[in-house]
Amino acid sequence: MRGEFLPFAAPLLGDEEIDEVVHCLRSGWLTTGRKTKQFEQEFCEFVGAKHALAVNSCTAALHLALEAVGVGPADEVITTPMTFTATAAVIEHLGARPVFADCDAATLNIDPAAIERQITPRTKAILPVHFAGQACDMNAIGALARAHELPVIEDAAHALPTLHRGRKVGATSELTCFSFYATKNVTTGEGGMVVTDREDLAERMRLMHLHGMSRDAWKRYTQNGSWSYEILAPGFKYNLTDIAAAIGIQQLKKAHAFHRRRLAIADRYDAGLADVPGVTLPRVADREGHAWHLYVIQLDPARLAIDRAAFVDRLIARNIGVSVHFIPLHVHPYYRDRYGLRPDDYPNAWAAYERIVSLPIYAKMTDDDVRHVIEAVRDVAREARR
Ligand SMILES: Cc1ncc(COP(=O)(O)O)c(C=O)c1O
Repeated sequence: MRGEFLPFAAPLLGDEEIDEVVHCLRSGWLTTGRKTKQFEQEFCEFVGAKHALAVNSCTAALHLALEAVGVGPADEVITTPMTFTATAAVIEHLGARPVFADCDAATLNIDPAAIERQITPRTKAILPVHFAGQACDMNAIGALARAHELPVIEDAAHALPTLHRGRKVGATSELTCFSFYATKNVTTGEGGMVVTDREDLAERMRLMHLHGMSRDAWKRYTQNGSWSYEILAPGFKYNLTDIAAAIGIQQLKKAHAFHRRRLAIADRYDAGLADVPGVTLPRVADREGHAWHLYVIQLDPARLAIDRAAFVDRLIARNIGVSVHFIPLHVHPYYRDRYGLRPDDYPNAWAAYERIVSLPIYAKMTDDDVRHVIEAVRDVAREARR
């Protein structure tokens, strides 16, 4: 058995990030400034978008994106229950209602047919989440959005880099939101980015992300800046610091190398776990186009004598950090009680919840780490065989 606990996730940081942060600190400019601008420009090039706005979380990015398309009280936004609360909480922040559409049982991505069933005259936007880093069916979702004249806001917290039929996620819808949280494929500690090709949306979000102050207010403490500004709206405080952007600039340069490592780990898991009774591996259409932020197996209760919770406990007892993505939103007390939802209202998300386990997958893992995970999953499944 593995001697030391393997964390479920960990960032991979090198001297490049440290040097860039030190450079930022020595410059004396800590908050939003040149490094943030550079990070935004390089991110635009990376995903092939016209405008990028760096913010302090993906949650902030989602909030700004929904505000920019005009989501407000009494509106509905269609999203998946198979996500993190941030995706739906920002809809609530705007006084609107998150309307869930069930996920596909195999990919756990939102099902376009389920979206269609939820569209009403109050629907204001569609908010798909690229679960685990695998692209949703954006052709079908885009067609629905066009037919009903709805904007699409993509939650790409897991999806860097992700391809949808050869096109980078970030260049496919009105708005796409990324996360640089500490465990994400590219990190700034905390951080996010929202990208768009539309000038009007970019301008609105730039205004709202920093107090609703007139343009370039961040320069007001420099010689080129001016003390004078105007408040055009009651904005938020969502700007990214240059310290965080410094980390992001160097992380982004490594994004493809990180991705190759994640893909290699996924390949090893596939090979090492393919024949394990009671364990179903992720269903993936395009292996290389998948960001592999998560590697989620599904357990078959008919073939295992223990439930998902016990399976997780036994892996942790073997020093393997694992997790569950996600506890579907509709069973959390807030959403359940507010909207009177029952587990079976979203049968695929609910059934998946009782079966899913996320295995560790990150660039810092060694081949031995990967081998230990495979051995542990095989052992636990063998011991639990019916
Ligand atoms: C699907 C999804 N959306 C949004 C978020 C929020 O990201 P952040 O922590 O950068 O606000 C997360 C975070 O884990 C997530 O998994």
